[in-house]
Order: sequence, then C-alpha cells, then structure tokens
Amino acid sequence: MPVPKAELHLHIEGTLEPELAFALAERNGVPLPCADTAALREAYRFSDLQSFLDLYYGLMAVLRTADDFTELADAYLARAAEQGVRHAEIFFDPQAHIARGVPMGVVVEGLGAALDRAEERHGVSTRLIMCFLRDEPAASAMATLEAAKPYLGRITGVGLDSAEVGHPPVTFREVYEEAARLGLRRVAHAGEEGPPEYVREALDVLGVERVDHGLRCLEDPSLVERLVRERVPLTLCPLSNVRLRAVDVLEAHPLRTMLDAGLVATVNSDDPAYFGGYAGDNFDAVRAALGLGPEELRTLARNSFLASFLEDDEGRRER
Ligand code: ADE
Ligand code: ZN
Repeated sequence: MPVPKAELHLHIEGTLEPELAFALAERNGVPLPCADTAALREAYRFSDLQSFLDLYYGLMAVLRTADDFTELADAYLARAAEQGVRHAEIFFDPQAHIARGVPMGVVVEGLGAALDRAEERHGVSTRLIMCFLRDEPAASAMATLEAAKPYLGRITGVGLDSAEVGHPPVTFREVYEEAARLGLRRVAHAGEEGPPEYVREALDVLGVERVDHGLRCLEDPSLVERLVRERVPLTLCPLSNVRLRAVDVLEAHPLRTMLDAGLVATVNSDDPAYFGGYAGDNFDAVRAALGLGPEELRTLARNSFLASFLEDDEGRRER
C-alpha cells in the first residue's frame, strides 16, 4: 500500500497523457505535430523550463470542451488515488485557455464536475488553485481574476507559474492584494530557475503561504533560516527538477539536505505526464536515489497534509 499523502503541486494540464491527447485531438479535429504517441513521447526531452513550456502550451490545443477538462481531471484523480494521494490541490492555467477561445466557465465547470465526484469515485478530496502566467502582463492576470469572480465558490487560491527568470513576483503585487481581499489563499512558484530574491519577494510582497519549488533558497542561508523559522512549506517536484535540468541527477537532489535543515519539504509531481511519474513515483524515486528511510517518508507525508489548505477538522483523519 502506498503511503497516504496530499499532492500540493500539480498542474492539471501537465497530466495530459499522449493517449488522451490523441483521443481529444481526433474528437475535436485538432491537428497534432506528431504522428503518434511514441513520437510525442520522443519529444519529451527538455533542456530547461521554457523548452517544456513550449510543448505544454502547444498540446493544450486539444482541450476544448468542459467534458475534455472533466475527462482530464478524472484520469488524473484515478492515477493519483492508485498512488496513495488522498488530497489534491490542483493548479490550472486559465489564461492559456482563454487565449485560445476557451472561456473560464468551460474550464472551471469542466474541472469542477470531476472534482465534485472525486471523493466518492476515488477517495480524494480536492481544491482548485488558479495560476497566473507570470510571462503575461499583470493587467492580464487582473482581468483573469475578474473573470474568475463568478466561480470563486470553486476556487480556493491563486498561484503564479510559467517562465520564471525575468518575471519577478513583485510585478503581481496588486493582483495578489486583490486576491487576498477576495479571501483567496496564495502560493507562487519561486526559486525553480529564478534566484532566492524571488522567494523572498513571493513571501514579502505577495504574502504566499507556500512556495512552489523554492529549490534555490539553498543559495541563501538566511532565507533558509527564515523558511524554517516561519515553517513555510516548499512543494518540491524531484522528477520535474531532473527533467528540466534544475538538478543534474536525482541522486544530487537536495531534498535530504532540506529535510535535515528543518525545512517543511513536500514531494509532488508537477506535470506527471511529461516528467515520468505521478506523486507515488516521485516518492519511490527519491527513496531509492537518496536512500530515504521510513521516518523521512513519514515526515514527507505528514508535511503534505500539514501544508495543505484542508481545514483542521478535514485534515485530521488523514494525518
Ligand atoms: N507550468 C507547468 N509546470 C510548470 C513549472 N514546473 N514551472 C513553471 N510553470 C509551470
Ligand atoms: Zn509547477
């Protein structure tokens, strides 16, 4: 039995497996740049974050209807549940869909239909986190927040993703202030490829409660000290870090160093269809590569529930 865990860093668009991509492409009459699923998998060789994002945004073209989003999320929840995920906080990228003519309502209602039955079907509780694309202007993020207002009953929080370097958190100060006014929880990707200062800014300017990735905090000992003291969770994604070349090999991943330093580290899959594994696969991979013992695995699982946006009474049964 895989250890029960929460997944806190998961882009639903990054769960689009080649088989589903081809099925949706045919159903929706959308051409794909590859002849078959094997050729598509061959294209999954990335040199950095941008090389991945180019393919990731391109492949989203197959997602057109609410049913497509429902199918996508349902497939993820089934696989996550098999790997011990009991709670999932799911990112989505509305701007990438709105730009292709797929409205916010189609995306949120489609995902919501799968999430509504996730407890019953898969034994997984869920939250939705709407991410802003940091390589788009702040005004576009603000318009997206405005477009989300009719759907806030379904959205727990906001996040910040896409190409990091050159797109500091401070750009999104007003957007996050508005999100806070609306009662939304706040997270942001920082320190994946970007410098430790972006992690500080995410905390100080955006008021985030968790940092997604946060890998490069290790370059700044005083920042590490602060993250430990304030118990700010980091949502690490080890297989993603190897595929996007943030670390050379899994054996060199700093997860153990981070746990030893007292950081509230969690293990997640990011974009599992592209990076070679779901949440449980990430746990298995770091266990083998770093020689983690049962106590460290328990800490990672406990951290995942502690760092989640489950209310105390909801989370208790999981912990
Ligand atoms: N969007 C999907 N996956 C991402 C990642 N790892 N970093 C930034 N943006 C993303
Ligand atoms: Zn991510």
